[in-house]
Amino acid sequence: MQLTKNVYLIGFMGAGKSTIARRIARLASVASLDMDKYIERSSGQSIPEIFEQGGEAHFRDIEAKTLEELSGKDDHMLISCGGGIIETEACRDILKSPDNVVIHLKIDSDRAAQRIGNAASRPMFKDSEQARALSSRRFPLYEEVADLTIDTANKNVWEISNEAMRFLSEEGVLCQ
Ligand code: S3P
Repeated sequence: MQLTKNVYLIGFMGAGKSTIARRIARLASVASLDMDKYIERSSGQSIPEIFEQGGEAHFRDIEAKTLEELSGKDDHMLISCGGGIIETEACRDILKSPDNVVIHLKIDSDRAAQRIGNAASRPMFKDSEQARALSSRRFPLYEEVADLTIDTANKNVWEISNEAMRFLSEEGVLCQ
């Protein structure tokens, strides 16, 4: 199958963006890319190292430049974004462009906190209380850019992937 636009998966840490992107890519035989992994490869640093070096602002800067670069490519892909992509206005503007499709994987912060487990690899995650505050502050920003929101509560990877693929097919974004 093929994608007629770039598709971005967004949502809070632990929502399963990378897993769902990989699953859809495999089922539909389309290309997928994990933005954080791409950033780690191209900078030669881990995400925690980037935060240590220049704080969140430094990471957001790299993240925004990466989104700009990827969104300019002609080959369409399924891209899983870091949970904080919507923090930067320039990123929200790119995501909102009619050239892109954005799917918000909604997860409640308590469940996200349970799933995250090892917080060392996620500099923006401190504890459940902080996650709850961060998640409610971000929620309207995810919704501002999303074309579709999938509530992941009580759904498995298969159900979430199918819901996303059905939407993309109906929108003519995923086609034969
Ligand atoms: C972040 C989420 C992380 C990563 C970075 C910042 C955030 O991605 O981009 O640690 O601000 O929520 P995941 O959502 O894949 O954990």
